[in-house]
Amino acid sequence: MSEKIYLAGILTISDKGSTGEREDTSGPAIQDLLSQQPLNILEQQIVPDERNLIADILVSWADDKLLHLIITTGGTGLSERDVTPQATESVIDYRIPGIEEAMRANGMRQTPFAMLSRLVVGVRNGTLIINLPGSEKAVTENLQTIMPVLSHALGQINGHKDADSH
Ligand code: MTE
Repeated sequence: MSEKIYLAGILTISDKGSTGEREDTSGPAIQDLLSQQPLNILEQQIVPDERNLIADILVSWADDKLLHLIITTGGTGLSERDVTPQATESVIDYRIPGIEEAMRANGMRQTPFAMLSRLVVGVRNGTLIINLPGSEKAVTENLQTIMPVLSHALGQINGHKDADSH
């Protein structure tokens, strides 16, 4: 039997990135790091730090596009405009605290600032949603932490979503 291909989306959340004022290097870094995985990246977008907009995209990608995996980057810090975790919490069915803890714990081996990320990981309607911080460095470090469990997690979560139906 051939290996199952999962469908993925990458959402960059950045006020400056969305206006072109700052180049998005984190979205492409995620794409690069995922290229070794059995994943098809179907959606990729850059949006400003707007809570309702972020939540609407997560719902649409999970429920309408039936993606198996959504990775966000940015907006997980402590400023007033950092609303990615709130938007994510508002749409998920349940959290996966172990993945969140692993990313923060491994991140703190690199920098104490890792504890400032409020990143959330959870599942909505069979879609794994992973928040990552905004910098390319943080994206790389965090994805390296979770890579060993990613396909096993997707296999467990995606019991009822069939990639062949796309
Ligand atoms: N995690 C890792 N592994 N490596 C990092 O360099 N940067 C931190 C943190 N998490 C970092 C990290 C910093 S400086 C901040 S402010 C927070 O993520 C939140 O970043 P965000 O607001 O861009 O999401």
